[in-house]
Amino acid sequence: MTQTIFILNGPNLNLLGQRQPEIYGHETLHDVQAACAAQAKDLGLAIDFRQSNHEGEIVEMIHEARDKAAGIIINPAAYTHTSVAILDALSAFDGPVIEVHISNVHKRESFRQHSYVSLRADGVIAGLGTAGYSAALRHLAETLRQR
Ligand code: DQA
Repeated sequence: MTQTIFILNGPNLNLLGQRQPEIYGHETLHDVQAACAAQAKDLGLAIDFRQSNHEGEIVEMIHEARDKAAGIIINPAAYTHTSVAILDALSAFDGPVIEVHISNVHKRESFRQHSYVSLRADGVIAGLGTAGYSAALRHLAETLRQR
């Protein structure tokens, strides 16, 4: 059976391409979704790609992943730096979790340099632009193949 990867995106990422393009680039979230879908097909995986501006909705998506996903790629956006609830939800998920940031958060304001999600993530990718999603997907495909 084809394994599904949940790709979850936090607040303001619906504005990707319009929002601070000097930091986040010109690609839209729809472009990222299309690229991930094409890549997943080549890797023999399915994706469920979602975005929410609401913390509780993201928590519920992670709960849903417990039954439906083999792995999670998550860009929690600003909730990275604030959300114990998202950390706790991810801690209740058994599969591999990769945290992705489009920008290099370590080169930015000091409040972006702490991540609650990193306490659970198996890997963290930051600063590769939207190519970080593709690197995460490739890594998960490899990890899941080895299991
Ligand atoms: C982000 C970095 C976060 O600090 C920020 O709040 C975002 C996006 C990134 O992808 O670089 O919204 O997660």
